[in-house]
Amino acid sequence: MQKFIIQGGRPLKGEITVAGDKNTALKLLPATVLVPGTTTFTNVPGIQDVKVMLELLTSIGAAVSQKKTGEVNVSTEAVKKTDLPSELVTKVRASSMFIGPLLARFGKVSVHHPGGDVIGERPLDLLLDGLSVLGADIKQDDRTYHISAAKMRGGRFIFRKVSVTVTENLLLAATLAKGKTELVNAAMEPGVIALADFLNAHGAKIHGAGTPTVIIEGVQKLRTSAAPVAIIPDRIEAGTFACLAAATNSPITISACNPTHLETLLKTLELMGATFTRDKDSITHVPHKKPLRAVEVVTHEYPGIATDFLAPLVVLSTQAQGLSLIRETIFEGRLFFTDKLKQMGAQIIMADPFRVVVNGPATLRGRKIISPDIRAGIALVIAGLLAEGTTTIGNIYQIDRGYEAIEERLAALGADMKRVETDYF
Ligand code: UD1
Repeated sequence: MQKFIIQGGRPLKGEITVAGDKNTALKLLPATVLVPGTTTFTNVPGIQDVKVMLELLTSIGAAVSQKKTGEVNVSTEAVKKTDLPSELVTKVRASSMFIGPLLARFGKVSVHHPGGDVIGERPLDLLLDGLSVLGADIKQDDRTYHISAAKMRGGRFIFRKVSVTVTENLLLAATLAKGKTELVNAAMEPGVIALADFLNAHGAKIHGAGTPTVIIEGVQKLRTSAAPVAIIPDRIEAGTFACLAAATNSPITISACNPTHLETLLKTLELMGATFTRDKDSITHVPHKKPLRAVEVVTHEYPGIATDFLAPLVVLSTQAQGLSLIRETIFEGRLFFTDKLKQMGAQIIMADPFRVVVNGPATLRGRKIISPDIRAGIALVIAGLLAEGTTTIGNIYQIDRGYEAIEERLAALGADMKRVETDYF
């Protein structure tokens, strides 16, 4: 077991490089099931969730190799298995991303209900509904789904609720379907565009990715493409570092990011009184002279403020003057971590599971806390960096799931943060 120990209040400055996007990597890896030959990815983040997805690929018979440089090679030519091991599936929610491609290639897949963050119920009803529109037959045996389709067929699916992974899964399922598929009210995240670009580069016919209507003209098969595929920058990591810079009022440059993916977040931070300069692939926080101001935040699907920014924004609000109202609209469990911030001295009132009011500024004090999920975990790291004294964070597997060697990268900015082996917490 490992924990992080942070001595707060150290001045931070310098440059931090953003890793490849976790969520895009988690979709492109299963997409290789549809692609002949070997695919080379670069800029793949060295995080636990990627490790699990590579293990899932290996478990079904794919050949996988990973280098320390962020290069990953995958060949799914030898894949034969269509049932996924439940001990891996229950580790990461994105394991559901194997459903679409296995179904498209083999006409069947068996998978346990996926695991991942405990931030709400996270059902698969939209996905199952969409797959049945594309001709799949679904049987459920306790918590395992057995899904089959002799041949997927095109169809029109209307999302009653926007879902990122369901949009991506249906895109994969429809790529080899007979006829045309139309996805209405689809997710518009940059990762959806990256997935469509990847499939189109291999011969798929997908139009409109990144807009609410995506059209997929089914093709018979995909073709090999020798060109390496670079994973796009992780906008959630970049935006989280922006919250860190604003909260600690530090001169920090966040490099290797795509500022156009961060516009609504930066607009909010600037309303609070933070200043950022933007370059083509970096942003720089310029320390503010006046205190930050409270703000109202409402999460929304892309291009709105991502639900993944909610936890860092709550921590930032503890440093702003006045009452901030923070409202989550997507997951019912995102805000429960705020009890940890209260233990650290934050003044937060939970109005209901979807809304908190934060009264700032507050002086945070170091405490022993457990990281409940990936985004709350990184927010608690920011809180620890702000706090007086020592903060100890347990269950850091949750943080390693999404942020590569975070203690080394933050230490390079001046943070006093160490990873320590421990038998107990
Ligand atoms: C993805 C991201 C996650 C981000 C979230 C919202 C990945 C690996 N993760 O998660 O970081 O926080 O988008 O931007 O890409 N829902 C249903 N039925 C379904 C599927 C989803 O009701 O079949 C609900 C969910 O419970 C949630 C909402 O739809 O309330 C949106 O979820 P979704 O967009 O699917 O989130 P994920 O794709 O799981």
